[in-house]
Amino acid sequence: MKAAMIHRYGQKEVEVVETAMPKIREQDVLVKIAAASINPIDLKTKEGKMKMLLKYPMPLTLGSDFSGTIVETGKGATNFLIGDQVYGRVQKDRIGTFAEYIAVSQEDIALLPKNVSFEEAAAIPLVGLTSYQALYEIMNVTAKDKVLIQAGSGGIGTIAIQLAKLSGAYVATTTSEKNSALVRELGADKVIDYHKENFDEVLADYDYVFDTMGGEILERAFNVIKPKGKVVTLSGMPNKRFAREYGLPFWKQGILTLASHKLSKRAKTAKAEYVFLFMRPDGKQLEQLTELIEADKLKPIIDRVIPLEDIQAAFDYSASGRAKGKIIIKMPD
Ligand SMILES: NC(=O)c1ccc[n+]([C@@H]2O[C@H](COP(=O)([O-])OP(=O)(O)OC[C@H]3O[C@@H](n4cnc5c(N)ncnc54)[C@H](OP(=O)(O)O)[C@@H]3O)[C@@H](O)[C@H]2O)c1
Repeated sequence: MKAAMIHRYGQKEVEVVETAMPKIREQDVLVKIAAASINPIDLKTKEGKMKMLLKYPMPLTLGSDFSGTIVETGKGATNFLIGDQVYGRVQKDRIGTFAEYIAVSQEDIALLPKNVSFEEAAAIPLVGLTSYQALYEIMNVTAKDKVLIQAGSGGIGTIAIQLAKLSGAYVATTTSEKNSALVRELGADKVIDYHKENFDEVLADYDYVFDTMGGEILERAFNVIKPKGKVVTLSGMPNKRFAREYGLPFWKQGILTLASHKLSKRAKTAKAEYVFLFMRPDGKQLEQLTELIEADKLKPIIDRVIPLEDIQAAFDYSASGRAKGKIIIKMPD
């Protein structure tokens, strides 16, 4: 089968090569992939930037989420049938969806929403589950809450705005003027053009900040958070609590405790909580997202669709940081 691989971290371009078919385990299904989506983690993995949390043998097929059709089932994979159309986010130690086939546990997939194409479905799993876990598990957003979602026009932002609005929360978001109409259409109540205004000069007393940016933008989140509020980051420094729960060895826990010290201090001063989220695959949560999509309450936003053969163009565009929604990789028929 064809797959987009790297042979070493830091390799300049991904290569589309012929490789062996994946082998399924007892609880697995084998999926013929129709489409996958690029996520910034694919770029970070390629550059070796995830090594603290994830280490892979080489060569490595990249790609974390997918949509496609089941062509084989393992002995214990009785929840699905050959021919079922499914989508999902694979476990972090089993990535490789930029390929024609993937072996994936039945626990990590759900049936495709009936009202979307394979390309649209592939736009959902990683960003949908991440946003679901941030907003509905960690924050438990309600109609009484004010939430700031950073980078509302990105893969995460376009889904997170919709999910936050479904709970009735008041949503502020940051983006450029050119994307302002899109985020408003998705439901954002207040839009801040980050080129013209600093969000922490115009917002105050927020219950939650969903940070996708890290760095000094994350630090400034503590200027707008309420006491007892939560700043949930996807891109900032993992803290001690995360390192412990993730099961990292003591020396890595020590490094991350030191590296996140400044943020922990900012949280303490603001009387707020700092949470680092590393999303997890979850077929049952994906079923919830399927229901929302089928009820027309949640829609995928696609920037462009790129064939597997041109996948480097998708990596380059994602690296530009300008994607408006998701970049989809289409597999050969
Ligand atoms: N920890 C986890 O489990 C997890 C899960 C998912 C994602 N993530 C991380 O979350 C981050 C966001 O992911 P994504 O898929 O949403 O990325 P993305 O789709 O590549 O984000 C692109 C968007 O970011 C906007 N943007 C760039 N700079 C901005 C700024 N300073 N202020 C406001 N908006 C800005 C851009 O809008 P303009 O063109 O207007 O600038 C563009 O629409 C990545 O770092 C990713 O690795 C982590």
